[in-house]
Amino acid sequence: MQPIVIAPSILAANFARLGEETHNVLNAGANWIHFDVMDNHFVPNLSFGPMICEALRKDGVTAPIDVHLMVSPVETMIRDFAKAGASSITFHPEATLHVDRNIQLIKDLGCQAGLALNPATPLNCLDYILDKLDLILVMSVNPGFGGQSFIPSALTKIRDIRKKINETDLPIRLSVDGGVSEKNIASIYEAGADTFVAGSAIFAKPDYKHAIDSMKQAVSL
Ligand code: DX5
Ligand code: ZN
Repeated sequence: MQPIVIAPSILAANFARLGEETHNVLNAGANWIHFDVMDNHFVPNLSFGPMICEALRKDGVTAPIDVHLMVSPVETMIRDFAKAGASSITFHPEATLHVDRNIQLIKDLGCQAGLALNPATPLNCLDYILDKLDLILVMSVNPGFGGQSFIPSALTKIRDIRKKINETDLPIRLSVDGGVSEKNIASIYEAGADTFVAGSAIFAKPDYKHAIDSMKQAVSL
């Protein structure tokens, strides 16, 4: 298992002060910044694109930026986000006919490659490509919006993927995204996740450090 990562989703930040909010969560102890890209096509919502990622880099954000593409098609956005300073780029298998090719493209551009699995996406999408991935993102809500409730069946999926990862002996991260909070993070960790994306559970709180510390404490068993 990889060291624990807390990755606040800036989808839940105050967009009018995005740079400041991003620096604030990092100063509060966040490890990565989770960057949710929505296109009003693959998901029914619109967020932000590569120019905003680049602006955060220019504003001095040096922490890993974990780009979660909820867009279709994916190819152009992979290229643009790699240029804009993304550290990892994760896409959904339903968003492209060419999963293997796009994993390779992400790696060729010098980023870490991730695959995101929607709540009803079966695990056989990992067949033949698991060993090429740096990260698997289990969606514990249906993608498109922050602030939704955690879907309990995600725990079974996390356990099943953890087994598969352990069989490979590779340092593949297992990330969970959607409805993660200080209340359920311990059970998600016990199921086998090492990377925790949280939007509202951090940005809706008045004290980001307290929110992140509570999450870290809940998993330091
Ligand atoms: C959902 C996004 C999530 C979301 C998480 O489509 O991928 O990253 O912002 O937000 P919370 O933690 O509020 O569920
Ligand atoms: Zn996300």
